[in-house]
Amino acid sequence: MRHLIDPLDFSKEEVGELLDVADDIAADRFRYGEVCRGKKLATLFYEPSTRTRLSFEAAMLNLGGSVLGFASPDSSSVAKGESVADTIRVISCYADICAMRHPKEGAPLVAARYSGIPVINAGDGGHQHPTQTLTDLMTIRRRAGRLHHLTIGLCGDLKFGRTVHSLIKSLARYEGMRFVLISPEELRLPDYIRDEVIKANGIPFKEVETMEEVMPELDILYMTRVQRERFFNEEDYIRLKDTYVLDKYKLRTAKPELSVLHPLPRVNEIAGEVDDDPRAAYFEQAQNGVYVRMALIMKLLGLTLPAENAKEGTVC
Ligand code: NCD
Repeated sequence: MRHLIDPLDFSKEEVGELLDVADDIAADRFRYGEVCRGKKLATLFYEPSTRTRLSFEAAMLNLGGSVLGFASPDSSSVAKGESVADTIRVISCYADICAMRHPKEGAPLVAARYSGIPVINAGDGGHQHPTQTLTDLMTIRRRAGRLHHLTIGLCGDLKFGRTVHSLIKSLARYEGMRFVLISPEELRLPDYIRDEVIKANGIPFKEVETMEEVMPELDILYMTRVQRERFFNEEDYIRLKDTYVLDKYKLRTAKPELSVLHPLPRVNEIAGEVDDDPRAAYFEQAQNGVYVRMALIMKLLGLTLPAENAKEGTVC
């Protein structure tokens, strides 16, 4: 049985295959409408979420399966003091696969140890968010036409942003990548990622404090929200929250083929006027999140598209 806890749990080849399936789903998702008939996905969300939880549920429903679960710990036995280990043992009796989001780093890993069903990490604290990374990789690959030789700017809360941590870990496996880390001093990328992932792989990078100074170099600009819920004090949050606001004026020096990504939700970091710029990719990215999660559920359940539904020349 496989789980997806860390972005590196799948090999590069497996990620490539998964993205191929996700592309095939994007071309016509209705061919996949019966693949998970009779299967159940449990969503165990101990922390708020809109996109991730609903995109998992939409993914399972698109595959013809059903969903159950809870959207906050207050509405489950967790409120009575149940451990993650016990919860997952019980959920294993009710569902075939589960997606778990938890404020504590490592909670989905603990769950996987006790689970009788595949566990997907849907975000653990400020640590990792591997399914957002698959979504990001799919969007980058579709937009840029490749997953190598790209200059990727990551902007905002690089300290607490788990999507950034997972994405860097994954992109570090591809050739010719260059990272531009854009953040205020206080929200710089944690040392363990800068040293153990970027430096250890000999990947060129630089750290800057403004997006204007690097805009013309970027192929991808990955914007992030300042993670209010992970700050120790509100004053620091208020001081830092509007450090970066991407608007049309700042985009004027960017490459025409730049793609702007954001895992969403956005607060103020991208002005609404950017939404209709062809370089804005974040809503498309949210859509890709459903396709990639469909492909992931199929992979972890060991299911493939029945031959009669495959189009000629498709990979499935
Ligand atoms: C991200 C998360 O939960 O880490 N959102 C998401 O999954 N789409 C980013 C965020 O909350 O800022």
